[in-house]
Amino acid sequence: MRLQDKVAVITGGARGLGQSMAELFAKEGAKVIAADMGDMAYEHPSVEGYKLNVTDPEACKSFVDYVTEKYGKIDILVNNAGITRDALTRKMTDDMWDLVIDVNLKGVFNLTKHIGPAMQVNGKGSIINISSVVGEFGNIGQANYAATKAGVIGMTKTWAKEFAMKGAQVRVNAISPGYTMTDILKTVPQDLLDKFAAQTMLGRLAQPEEIANAALFLASDESSYITGHNLSVNGGMRL
Ligand SMILES: NC(=O)c1ccc[n+]([C@@H]2O[C@H](COP(=O)([O-])OP(=O)(O)OC[C@H]3O[C@@H](n4cnc5c(N)ncnc54)[C@H](O)[C@@H]3O)[C@@H](O)[C@H]2O)c1
Repeated sequence: MRLQDKVAVITGGARGLGQSMAELFAKEGAKVIAADMGDMAYEHPSVEGYKLNVTDPEACKSFVDYVTEKYGKIDILVNNAGITRDALTRKMTDDMWDLVIDVNLKGVFNLTKHIGPAMQVNGKGSIINISSVVGEFGNIGQANYAATKAGVIGMTKTWAKEFAMKGAQVRVNAISPGYTMTDILKTVPQDLLDKFAAQTMLGRLAQPEEIANAALFLASDESSYITGHNLSVNGGMRL
């Protein structure tokens, strides 16, 4: 049990990568709160679903108060909720730009601004921000998404410095997954997915569990001396 008695908040935890992480963390002994604006795609006795839109700052504050009151603390935060609205830059509308920035970037800030400082006061904690290969390398048709995912890496490094002030053992890391079979890829044509698979050393896309295993490592004490790091989990993809 690598997360025995830990309390973990996972945004976007109702399905996809968030679901895989929630189920794995729960199996390792954590109490998990899956904060998501969508309905839970599964049930688990150690996972509580909570309806939250991460773009709403006041709702985020109320959510943190609720979890802290009910569970007493938050040990792990995974900022995982994310969306895409893809288009070539010349065709990208202001709405497409604003929505992706609001969810993928501001949403991460909205929760972390409460949970990070609380972890600092508590003297420990692990924050994991889900970035992307697209944040590292860019991708045609994803200027908005790439901006947010690169931004998440910048916030990760900043918070690794900020929340560790005064000796707190608060670690902040990012994971940049490669293309992973979840609903977010539904809009990507199969020939592109095949191309992405061929660009990896392993010749395939990732399974959600392979990303969840990386998150478990960064959430657990096994990574106690790792902070400010961006862990690429992409099968050796070259773009
Ligand atoms: N699947 C991939 O190929 C891949 C690759 C790299 C990075 N990522 C990142 O991993 C994360 C998870 O993606 P996924 O593949 O599981 O996608 P997904 O679409 O299956 O799940 C995303 C979840 O986030 C939730 N969500 C969306 N907007 C929200 C909001 N405003 N407030 C709260 N919840 C919200 C959705 O309801 C959904 O449950 C995202 O940040 C994504 O950018 C995914």
